[in-house]
Amino acid sequence: MKGIILAGGAGSRLFPLTLVASKQLQPVYDKPMVYYPLTTLIESGIREFCLISTPHDLPRFRQLLGDGASWGLSIEYREQPRPEGIAQAFLIAESFIGNDGVTLVLGDNVFYGGDGFHHAFADFQGGATIFGYHVNDPERYGVVEFDGEGRAISIEEKPKKPKSNYAVPGLYIYDNNIVSIVKALKPSARGELEITAVNVEYLQRGELRVCRLNRGFAWLDAGTSSSLHEASAYVQTIEKRQGIKIGCPEEAAFRSGFLSLPQLEALTAKIPNCEYRDYLNALVSETKRLKS
Ligand code: TTP
Repeated sequence: MKGIILAGGAGSRLFPLTLVASKQLQPVYDKPMVYYPLTTLIESGIREFCLISTPHDLPRFRQLLGDGASWGLSIEYREQPRPEGIAQAFLIAESFIGNDGVTLVLGDNVFYGGDGFHHAFADFQGGATIFGYHVNDPERYGVVEFDGEGRAISIEEKPKKPKSNYAVPGLYIYDNNIVSIVKALKPSARGELEITAVNVEYLQRGELRVCRLNRGFAWLDAGTSSSLHEASAYVQTIEKRQGIKIGCPEEAAFRSGFLSLPQLEALTAKIPNCEYRDYLNALVSETKRLKS
């Protein structure tokens, strides 16, 4: 399974923050926003990534994440010249996907808690798997309707009258048919290749699985000034209370077995003296203590 991180778009709702740095490079408490979705995919066992952003912002992402090798990953980069829809990512990344299945995560979605994703990746056997998350304002999202037996029966993009409170978060898992499905797609009235149209196609084929994320799970979307602030406050609260970090790619790569202990130790030594380094040093010491 390969991973695409989609981190383009206009970020107009965050103006003037996004005048010089794109939305997904803004801080969510103590890390750049893109660290969070990247970490979610590393925790799910994904090691090969393609990050897609605007021609203007792509060099900054490259500067931040490099080729991923120091974290035991590989990261490629591709440009999306104009924001012509989330599903366009699969056309842009066609050569990266090759013959594999692929997960797409939006660069401004922050997830935390539960093992919903873990199970979904472990159980994935083909078709598509997406998620349903209960929200207060479903009309802002793709909305999924379930029948009495919990099966998805419809998905609508930003409906005026939502048929449920279940929004579809920005993490989608597809088999290799995704590329041909998107190739056959026509742009919507707003001129975009819609991810909801892709999901409807899988639904019509009888190949869509929608997993409901339970109450213990947090999905934050950091696209407006106040949701960005709320996401930061949430991360700070959990990190302070628990003494663990959310969205720490080094830790996730280590726990997923992509980095050995000596490798983690070596890369930690290169981090300037700061709280982030202290955290990784504590992880190294604790691991050594448990081993001895
Ligand atoms: P949005 O939040 O819908 O759009 P945006 O980021 O352009 O923000 P704004 O509405 O404030 O202008 O996009 C959701 C995510 O998907 C976000 O991370 C950007 C990304 N995206 C792309 O990278 N390319 C696209 O063509 C689209 C539609 C979205």
